[in-house]
Amino acid sequence: MKYWKKLSQKERQDSIEKALSENVDFSQDTSLGYPASKLDDKVFYSDAPFLKDAPTLKSYVANPNHIGCHTFGSSEVAFKGTQEIEREVLKVLAVDVFKVEENEFDGYIAPGGTEANIQAMWVFRNYFINKYNAKNSEIAILASEDTHYSIPKGSNVLSIKLYSIPVEFKDRVIDKIELEKIVENAVKDGKKYFIIISNMATTMFGSVDDPKTYTNLLEKLDLPYKLHIDGAYGGFVYPFSNKKSTINFSNPKICSITIDAHKMLQAPYGTGVYLCRKGLIENVLTKEAEYVEGMDLTLCGSRSGANAIAFWMILFTYGPYGWYEKISVLQMRTDWFCKQLNKLDIKYFREEKMNIVTIHARYIPKDMAEKYHLVPQKHSEENKWYKVVIMDHVEIDNLLQLINALKEIR
Ligand SMILES: Cc1ncc(COP(=O)(O)O)c(C=O)c1O
Repeated sequence: MKYWKKLSQKERQDSIEKALSENVDFSQDTSLGYPASKLDDKVFYSDAPFLKDAPTLKSYVANPNHIGCHTFGSSEVAFKGTQEIEREVLKVLAVDVFKVEENEFDGYIAPGGTEANIQAMWVFRNYFINKYNAKNSEIAILASEDTHYSIPKGSNVLSIKLYSIPVEFKDRVIDKIELEKIVENAVKDGKKYFIIISNMATTMFGSVDDPKTYTNLLEKLDLPYKLHIDGAYGGFVYPFSNKKSTINFSNPKICSITIDAHKMLQAPYGTGVYLCRKGLIENVLTKEAEYVEGMDLTLCGSRSGANAIAFWMILFTYGPYGWYEKISVLQMRTDWFCKQLNKLDIKYFREEKMNIVTIHARYIPKDMAEKYHLVPQKHSEENKWYKVVIMDHVEIDNLLQLINALKEIR
């Protein structure tokens, strides 16, 4: 690990104070041109005594705007201190966790996984347009049927057709024969360029797609493609639970990755991450953003710099070993839960290194699912699965309650 380390409370506080001091201070400096200010004093007291020792809350009050992308070209000088904090977060993820070469990535902290996924598809769509003069109607998105709904949403926004690939019912693995048929039919439909969304891991099952399933086929058929990994859920789990994972930038075919901090990392909402290799993000440069220094390469525009600070605080409070320990505990709880289900002969799906257990719905009466807030795959009579997500607050004692309830009806 080059950038990720554990820092003491004092070191963290000093770093954030320094970053904030390098930003414009709306209460002290003469800053006349921004349509922005710190949070409203009448509502959010900026001199509350507890803020002194609470760097994250202090950042929310200071209200920096991280508009634009800070790994590429120039950025707004008014927020340069906290933009550096965002760059540190991105370096930890891109270089230390996802193994890209130093300075060989771009990215930003997006409002969430949905935006990061749409940004990825937008970048690829424009890449195909810029490089091959492609028409929207010649571009296709390929993703498994278990893929998050942000992908159909993006397909709709970007006007690119999505081909949904079936998976095997029991093991949630992509059906290779169907995939081949679907791609061949897409080619017959006039599709020439492919955007692949490979999951690490899916929302409902925690299943991890093998990107080779897609890339081997498209290479065999000699079709141009770009590969994005949706790690919104698994990005802070799988690289730690599976040290042998190669679903990262060490695979030269992987172009970009989504990771959410507001899921496993328990960061505030608004902390998704989009990362890509250098040479791609400029495909979505909005040149018309002339009032923004460095212009804009992101989908959202204005976004909270305080979120970058909250994210940084979590990373540098745990450090890599602390985070690995946390994920190991969740894995142990998941193993325990699966053992209990095995004893009861209850069928479920679990990707070995993940912390989601998805149980066949026939074992769970509706009232039990409601009592324990189990999430169904579908909110309709057709539902076939309920999931349990072993998050930080889901302890063995909580899981035991469900196991006991299941025992009573077996
Ligand atoms: C795999 C996956 N991708 C994308 C998303 C979308 O993330 P967000 O809700 O942060 O937009 C989710 C959310 O659950 C997800 O699980």
